[in-house]
Amino acid sequence: LLNDLKPSNIVAPHDLFQPERTNSRGIDLNDENTLRSLKDILNTTLPETSGDLPVINPADHKDTLTTITTSTPEVVKDAVASAITAFDSWGRTSAEHRAIILERAADLLEAETPQLMGIVLREAGKTLANAVAEIREAVDFLRYYAAQARRELNGTTPLGAIVCISPWNFPLAIFLGQISAALAAGNTVLAKPAEETPVIALKAIQILHKAGIPDDALHFLPGAGETGAALVSDERISGVVFTGSTEVAHIIQKQLSNRLTAHGTPLPLIAETGGQNAMVVDSSALTEQITRDVLASAFDSAGQRCSALRVLCLQEDSADRVLAMIKGAMDELQIGNPADIETDVGPVISADAQNIILQHIAEMRSKGFRVYQTSLPPACSAGTFVAPTLIEISDINVLTREVFGPVLHIVRYKANERASLMEKIRNTGYALTFGLHSRIDSTIQELTNASSAGNIYVNRNIVGAIVGSQPFGGHGLSGTGPKAGGPLYLRRMLAHTQALDTRF
Ligand code: SER
Repeated sequence: LLNDLKPSNIVAPHDLFQPERTNSRGIDLNDENTLRSLKDILNTTLPETSGDLPVINPADHKDTLTTITTSTPEVVKDAVASAITAFDSWGRTSAEHRAIILERAADLLEAETPQLMGIVLREAGKTLANAVAEIREAVDFLRYYAAQARRELNGTTPLGAIVCISPWNFPLAIFLGQISAALAAGNTVLAKPAEETPVIALKAIQILHKAGIPDDALHFLPGAGETGAALVSDERISGVVFTGSTEVAHIIQKQLSNRLTAHGTPLPLIAETGGQNAMVVDSSALTEQITRDVLASAFDSAGQRCSALRVLCLQEDSADRVLAMIKGAMDELQIGNPADIETDVGPVISADAQNIILQHIAEMRSKGFRVYQTSLPPACSAGTFVAPTLIEISDINVLTREVFGPVLHIVRYKANERASLMEKIRNTGYALTFGLHSRIDSTIQELTNASSAGNIYVNRNIVGAIVGSQPFGGHGLSGTGPKAGGPLYLRRMLAHTQALDTRF
């Protein structure tokens, strides 16, 4: 057995494949200049807006950032008409022209990093570290799709006007990832941001227009579900890119199913949805390393990532030891105002989200499952916070849906139950991320083979896929593919897709 024990820093398969590292410069929060610019971050000027949709700081409900006007079905209709007309010219631009504009937008984003951080911090409750990563990922998407368009999309045919509907949890990165891909492929875009985070989205649209995307090739349509429904039901659109719940993705898919593009092909839907993401830990894994990676996977971003860890499966022999350390580390997490540099866990996005999470915890408690929760500092009552929580459940089957917050479920298994455990994980129907911790090669191989997840991480955390080197996305209940930030994504946005390479 000792010979089988390997150093624990085995990289995930995806880490070995790095066709394109477009990562922009990071921001070092220990750097003095950065700390000085924190003042700028916190005093960010917001774009001027007014309307009926209040935008509220989830960390402090007294702080209404602004109000935004909902896009009515009439506004949607006009925008679609305009995007169709604009397609006549934008659809004929060269891939090189589009790449240059997207790269210019990436430069503008980088130059405005402190201001953008300030907005995602106030509007989405992002911690400073998460805000840095958010801006960086957005820049990466722009540069990655620009490079790919330049390399592969000369003379290809775009589809038409594409609807992009994005979530609040990556209100800049996913928003711009969807849009930049559609634009890079030569489509015009109707962009609907999440109703909770329209301000950073507006800022992104302004930057794209400033970089050279014509106004009528990219429309900003803030609003709630009604706006999204008006966009999807418009017969003139040529495809939908959606990131959000599995339920809404199904509704969109049904709507699109009996429609064809101008080229006679089915209307494409690229959907990235939920997960019931699991990590399996055996007794050879290192407790400190598991603890670090579990905390990052389950509680970073207050658990509000589709990649986040929901179910940690611990081999019974070492479960008590591992749990003791995880609980100790949870007690050290700083929960509170995202503007404080030492904050690890910020708020959840809204009172509705908070209620759903708290109801789930109460339900699990009433079923007799043991719950461990850290305490919330009094200042947290200003916003919608949920204390990081562990729930020891009997089986992964007791979970019927994804709980989108800082709640981690624990399942214990015996060494001889690994195969049936993996079967249960597959049977959830979700297949987004999966993690494993082991120092035994054969176990790593066995678990990797048994997982159906889109992104598998070995001996590390399971969040924060890097554009270009870790294409991100799942299948089954977790989405349609192709993976975002991967080599196949742009092709789905073309009229005639080339033969699909299924390596990703
Ligand atoms: N792409 C994000 C991650 O990998 C999740 O949406 O964490």
